[in-house]
Amino acid sequence: ARIRHYRWEVKYEFKTPDCFKKLAITINGQTPGPTIEAQEGDTVVVELKNSLLTENVAIHWHGIRQKGTPWFDGTGGVTQCPIVPGDTFVYKFVVDRPGTYLYHAHYSMQREAGLYGMIRVSLPPGIAEPYTYDYDRSIILNDWYHKSTYEQATGLSSNPFVWVGEPQSLLIHGKGWFDCSGLQADVCNATNPACSRSPYVLTVVPGKTYRLRIGSLTALAALSFEIEGHNMTVVEADGHNVEPFEVKNLFIYSGETYSILIKANQAPTRNYWAVSKVVSRNSTTPNGLAVFNYYPNHPRRSPPTVPPVGPAWNDVNSRLAQGQAIKARQGYIHSPPRISDRVIVMLNTQNTINGYTRWSINNVSYNIPDTPYLIAVKDKLYHVFDQTPPPDSYDFQNYDISRKANNSNATTSNSLYKLQFNSTVDIILQNANTMTSNNSETHPWHLHGHDFWVMGYGKGKFDINSDPKKYNYVNPIMKNTVAVQPYGWTALRFRADNPGVWAFHCHIEAHFYLGMGVVFEEGVEKLGPLPSSIKGCGDTKRFP
Ligand code: C2O
Ligand code: CU
Repeated sequence: ARIRHYRWEVKYEFKTPDCFKKLAITINGQTPGPTIEAQEGDTVVVELKNSLLTENVAIHWHGIRQKGTPWFDGTGGVTQCPIVPGDTFVYKFVVDRPGTYLYHAHYSMQREAGLYGMIRVSLPPGIAEPYTYDYDRSIILNDWYHKSTYEQATGLSSNPFVWVGEPQSLLIHGKGWFDCSGLQADVCNATNPACSRSPYVLTVVPGKTYRLRIGSLTALAALSFEIEGHNMTVVEADGHNVEPFEVKNLFIYSGETYSILIKANQAPTRNYWAVSKVVSRNSTTPNGLAVFNYYPNHPRRSPPTVPPVGPAWNDVNSRLAQGQAIKARQGYIHSPPRISDRVIVMLNTQNTINGYTRWSINNVSYNIPDTPYLIAVKDKLYHVFDQTPPPDSYDFQNYDISRKANNSNATTSNSLYKLQFNSTVDIILQNANTMTSNNSETHPWHLHGHDFWVMGYGKGKFDINSDPKKYNYVNPIMKNTVAVQPYGWTALRFRADNPGVWAFHCHIEAHFYLGMGVVFEEGVEKLGPLPSSIKGCGDTKRFP
């Protein structure tokens, strides 16, 4: 195993990913940031210098379990104090499994300013994937807002609530297009050479097979991705081998990664469109476009066809069906424990609390404390967060998930769930109506520090008596992020076997910001001394 050393400087720069000039957060001048390339078992060291001048930062290594290094999970307020301007922080962790992972800012709503990238972990030499391909490529899908994260976050925490609305564009690996005719030339101008339409180009050699790793780090949007005229075979999800299946379009939610195989087997005399499209919201955001370029056609040569329009935004059944189609690959099945020790049902609702719009789990809306939990629990600073644990369930006899939430008893809290070390935990994520009649959204939930088995999905209200009988014990996929469809439920199982404190939350940035998350603690007493580099904020100063 090797050490992979990276030296990164994080700073603001003016960028025009979709022509519109915006302050973006870059790593060494780039957004998306550099790809981390490593081999299974390697140690990744990232020396991170915060040059944001007035803003803290923390970076989360999404999908890396941080076994033995929970303090380098990069979650501001949970596992570390944020890195203050001018400081350098060193992340050091082992990438213990092959696959496709992500990294991104995990401090306030910073991610959507562009601070993210991909982690690719390859197999050791001599070990082969259970599928073959000629080339290995990767792209990150994203949505892009023109308003700053400050303006967005301030709107979300205002009364009356100010919602930023739909994203202005969709980016495919950092490139998109926004029609800014009519705007001033120094902001955005379609004739300005700095902002000519230059989509992302993926060049392929006719006849070859490509492994395309796709990660989504959208702030809001659930996406469908497709390549005109080509089917895709799904082979990997969140670092796990998938029993291969073919799709025309891939549904992908914020925080998920997939590998698909795609064969360049269409007429080689032209280029094709690659399209990302918002689903699950009746969005005004135009589709994102990239060019699937058949060598030797010119990469700038526009495909001669109209780009595919993609699936209907409200086709929940197709999305549910794709989720259910994702199974662990034969020969790579990890069987889940038959019995769980604890079942936590989490009702996802939108609420108002004292006039402010929030998201809640079992009527509790989550707030991040100023003193990170990991330090607080380890050093027994129990006064820094609420000691009443959040509820394990909601009143599912009486609650009507098809109606707007009854807000009378919603509260905020920064308490956490204490899990018995090495126990098996089931989580049932139950979706419900928002504060708008006949509306329920899609929420991609991400668990830090673990992979979970996806035991099942369903429509309507989860039935604790009959639905567990339909769980998949045969070949459930393991993932770290999974979608909960409108008015539906998703059931997960995991082993609480990683000492640390771990966030579990909706990956929609504004939803987590508005309280849609929880925190799990397990086995912290088993950890050795914490590195002093994670301390320095909140009460860690008063009680060093
Ligand atoms: Cu990728 Cu806590 O997030
Ligand atoms: Cu959400």
